[in-house]
Amino acid sequence: MRRRLAAGNWKMNGTHASLDELRTLAQQHPSPGCDILICPPATLLDPMSRLCRDTAIACGGQDCHAEPKGAHTGDISAEMLADAGAEYVILGHSERRADHGETDETVAAKALAAWRAGLTAIICVGESEAQRDNGATLEVIGAQMDGSIPDGADGDNLVVAYEPIWAIGTGRVPMLPEIGEVHDFMRARLAARFGPGVADQVRLLYGGSMNPANVADIISVRNVDGGLVGGASLKARDFGRIIAALGK
Ligand code: 13P
Repeated sequence: MRRRLAAGNWKMNGTHASLDELRTLAQQHPSPGCDILICPPATLLDPMSRLCRDTAIACGGQDCHAEPKGAHTGDISAEMLADAGAEYVILGHSERRADHGETDETVAAKALAAWRAGLTAIICVGESEAQRDNGATLEVIGAQMDGSIPDGADGDNLVVAYEPIWAIGTGRVPMLPEIGEVHDFMRARLAARFGPGVADQVRLLYGGSMNPANVADIISVRNVDGGLVGGASLKARDFGRIIAALGK
């Protein structure tokens, strides 16, 4: 059985004052029925991971460089994330693909770096609204998975997040059968490449305007093993309700 994962992506939000939200969350969920992960901005990773020690909450980065170290001003390596207490790293988020021109090849190189540092890679895929309207969704998702996930993936080192770009931060969510179609497709794609045993172990998250009101419906969809949550992960009250729903 795959254990569900409630993953919060804080994006470029949060200062040390935000750690209060985390204290609240840790107190309210001492032994949750799902795994909990928060990916804060890199500036908060060290204090957050210290705070999360001996709690049920894991911490992760939002990106890493493919190289372990070197002359790359402003970048952070997977080894540095691990050193700061990260256990996971989000890779290939659509905002990074758009803002920083990341390609599937870049993402695959970063995933290998994550594995080299002992991190679990959460690889994000998702179609634009135009691609969905053109009926290209599965083709796009399949190509992104093939190109962004390196050989050697397994249930411990890989999580895949389906995040339709048009659903991120918009309050719009695909119909449940649309989510189901993509998640079934992703599971089958993993099975074809890595074998059914591995495919069965990899957690598939849905991301894009997930909130306390829609989480129960979304998680009822087959092959949805959790959520990658942006805006609703910033407040302990909202994220706590999502954790409670995923932990049922
Ligand atoms: P929202 O939950 O704010 O739509 O963001 C989703 C997301 O991009 C998580 O990575």
